Amino acid sequence: KMYTVMLPAAGSGRRMGAGFNKLFLELAGKPILIHTLEVFEQDEKCSGMILSVKLVEKEKIERMLERFGITKVKALVEGGDERQQSVAACIRAHQSDEIVLVHDAARPFINRNVIHELVGVADEHGAAIAGVQVKDTMKFAPDGIVEETVDRSKLWSIQTPQAFRYELLKEASDKAEADGFLGTDESMIVERLGHPVRIVESTYDNVKMTTKEDLLFGEVLLKRRQ
Ligand code: CTP
Ligand code: MG
Repeated sequence: KMYTVMLPAAGSGRRMGAGFNKLFLELAGKPILIHTLEVFEQDEKCSGMILSVKLVEKEKIERMLERFGITKVKALVEGGDERQQSVAACIRAHQSDEIVLVHDAARPFINRNVIHELVGVADEHGAAIAGVQVKDTMKFAPDGIVEETVDRSKLWSIQTPQAFRYELLKEASDKAEADGFLGTDESMIVERLGHPVRIVESTYDNVKMTTKEDLLFGEVLLKRRQ
């Protein structure tokens, strides 16, 4: 089963505090963005990538793709102020019967087995998202006072990729926009259609490069893999 991947890359990386888009920061001598794209470049089941970027960064990214031999990018579209809008721009730029994956450009350590499992489950059931079981004890404490200890075995920490049949994701995206609904992931906009979303167990190393500490973890992971 082939798939297309949509990669929102139009953020500003505020929490990283680098003063520029964190995706340009290097891990082991290569930009984070390129590490992520290489996973899909090298996966023969990936038929193409669509990136949403800031217009002012478009040329810089195009040069980067060329320099690092990334050939599967079909389109660079303009991102929006919110991540959901950046993904919506990718969805508008695409049309196909294939499964589509949405994956944060800031998660360079996704592995191929998880990707393929997601594609298989989404193909069969419509929607599948990557997640890991939470490790800590979880408490519900609305005002900082514990109301309840939540049953941890039922809780999942959700990542990307998130995989969908194209038509389902398109419908969810259009409806979210029409309703002015802003979710924190694509699953949320599909959930509100009433469509079941299945979780595929991922790995704890599929971290998002969000703050400085994540970069240290990333360097260690890359060393271990070499
Ligand atoms: N993203 C995007 N468009 C936005 C916001 C985020 O395409 N308006 C992308 C980011 O580039 C990143 C992914 O969505 O690849 C996940 O977002 P996040 O980790 O929050 O990145 P940033 O928004 O860049 O970081 P921050 O929230 O710290 O500013
Ligand atoms: Mg953000």
